[in-house]
Amino acid sequence: MESGVQKMICGASEVFFPIHGDERGKLVAIEENRDLEFDIKRIYYIYDTCPDVVRGKHAHIDLHQVMLCVCGSCEVLLDNGQEREVVTLSAPNRGVYIHSPIWREMLHFSKDCVLLVMTNKFYDRLDYIFDYDEFLRMVKERVEEKG
Ligand code: TYD
Repeated sequence: MESGVQKMICGASEVFFPIHGDERGKLVAIEENRDLEFDIKRIYYIYDTCPDVVRGKHAHIDLHQVMLCVCGSCEVLLDNGQEREVVTLSAPNRGVYIHSPIWREMLHFSKDCVLLVMTNKFYDRLDYIFDYDEFLRMVKERVEEKG
């Protein structure tokens, strides 16, 4: 299977990566600007998450991100200010690509979940929006700018 992108709500897409498997097991390779539409500047992963925890609860001003569960599963709530969608991440070769302002919350982590995130920028606290109303204002401004 080729890597690919499938549209979800505006601003987020589902992405697929090829699995290289043989009698020894499986391998997934992700290359910037080939399997991903951006340069990878930063990788982080979330694991050992406490039960009933909701993480994220923010949006970014300008950041491209792909997240997937290399192990276990979790749910991601995606909200672009107009539409919402909850996606279950449960495959090491299928993720969510967030490429414009999206409020996101990650929840229902399985005990063994390792959520991997690849981004196009270094960590920058100034790129975060933690207030949902501020997020809605930003989305409105961008819609007005586009006319
Ligand atoms: P946090 O932003 O709360 O994670 P999430 O929104 O995914 O639940 O990050 C937890 C801590 O890790 C916080 O102290 C900031 C730090 N951190 C980094 O140093 N670099 C990073 O790339 C990220 C995402 C977080």
